[in-house]
Amino acid sequence: MEFRERDIISIKDFTRAEIDYILETAEAIEPIAKSTSDMLRGKILATLFFEPSTRTRLSFEAAMHKLGGNSIGFAEADMTSVKKGENLADTIRVIENYADIIALRHPLEGAARLAGEFAHIPIINAGSGAEEHPTQAMLDLYTILKERGRINGLNITLVGDLRYGRTVHSLAYALSLYDIRLFLISPELLRMRREVLDVITEKIEVLESASIDEVLPETDVLYMTRIQKERFPDLAEYAKVKGAYRIDLESLKEAKRDLVIMHPLPRVDEIADEVDETPHARYFQQVWNGIVMRMALLALILGATE
Ligand code: NCD
Repeated sequence: MEFRERDIISIKDFTRAEIDYILETAEAIEPIAKSTSDMLRGKILATLFFEPSTRTRLSFEAAMHKLGGNSIGFAEADMTSVKKGENLADTIRVIENYADIIALRHPLEGAARLAGEFAHIPIINAGSGAEEHPTQAMLDLYTILKERGRINGLNITLVGDLRYGRTVHSLAYALSLYDIRLFLISPELLRMRREVLDVITEKIEVLESASIDEVLPETDVLYMTRIQKERFPDLAEYAKVKGAYRIDLESLKEAKRDLVIMHPLPRVDEIADEVDETPHARYFQQVWNGIVMRMALLALILGATE
């Protein structure tokens, strides 16, 4: 298995064995995440974020720092030469002189793939429009594994914006490599993309519905998502689905006692604050797992692990 100098563009570029190896690496690196190391001393990560982010960018940077490396980058493309009309390919050709690896978030689908073709250094897709968010899927798998002890055999329910939500696209592809049942809950307008369904229904049992109640009693992992308002071409359409799902203590009455609730964050109104105090809530644990997973990925790609 070779990870050195590899791009992470789509979760579909990884085999089950590779993903399992990444999960094992994350487990091995977790103790280091609690302190620091100098594994990547002298290495530089560039974070190029053309879209808003809190967790993804800061966790990549923190992961690099914890491994002894450094980070540079921007979170506000308006302050860069992009504003003067520089295209993505040229931006990448410039940045690769300054860094050893790039984490890129861009509003256009295909942007990360394109960047990967131009760059001579590894590109990590930190979100490509509504398309994919592969490192989020890896940290989500790691969270499921840690919280449930396994991935196989679980009933996993993805709820909310399955059309514009990139995290659920990557996660659905990743989960289809395991032996699970997948419940997809969304308003009709926000059903899982056809291209994702085509791939995953070949591999696992998938059930689509508009109601959480129907599947909640059987659910082991409930993955809530935000309706992606900024991606709607028409805000009148957004108004129809806004607030479609909300989990609170009342709605969890029928849930399994060991139900795990996840959310890539940010949340808007999908999970009531009162749920945070229950043993089901794991979305802040997921944030921690994000830094662990990104340390593992940086170490693997930059060749710091044996
Ligand atoms: C998500 C994203 O940017 O796709 N956030 C994240 O990276 N954890 C989810 C979202 O914005 O709803």
